[in-house]
Amino acid sequence: MGILLFAVTSCSASSASSEGAVSCDPTATPTTGDLPDDVNAVLVDKCQGCHSGPPQHHAPFPLVSFEDTQEQFGLTSKRKWQRMSEVIAPDGLPHMPYGTAPPLTSDEMTTLQSWFGKCAMPVPEGMGHDLLDDGGVEQVR
Ligand code: HEC
Repeated sequence: MGILLFAVTSCSASSASSEGAVSCDPTATPTTGDLPDDVNAVLVDKCQGCHSGPPQHHAPFPLVSFEDTQEQFGLTSKRKWQRMSEVIAPDGLPHMPYGTAPPLTSDEMTTLQSWFGKCAMPVPEGMGHDLLDDGGVEQVR
């Protein structure tokens, strides 16, 4: 009896702490900076065919700069990166990449979701990729 109780308690404690590891306060992420190189590479290959500036193929907004990913998503309390995380999930709707566009590879999915899991933090201005929007020097490496 004592052993069973102990097992149940330790199991629920460990799942609570792993939830804590991925939760974050999206409003705590800085709103300026650059996209990390690996994240930028996925957006260029799999998203910017439509989410370019200006957007193509009826995409609703560009996803070309770090600042783009931090904007508010519509009238919701989410930032766009949080919505990005939802729509790339296997059951996300509308599923992205859209329609017949090439799907994310599992490596690309891991790159994006691990960035989102760390609250989509920027690298400092000038250290990553940023094409538009922050009024700084255009950085393309
Ligand atoms: C082939 C063009 C295309 C590609 C590639 C594409 N999108 Fe989209 N995206 C769209 C269109 C069109 C919509 C609007 C869909 C709708 O409202 O039904 C959209 C909507 C979205 C939305 C808003 C969803 C909502 O609830 O309104 C997000 C976020 C998004 N895309 C993220 C991405 C990400 C991240 C990628 C790359 C992994 C990507 N998209 C690739 C065309 C594209």
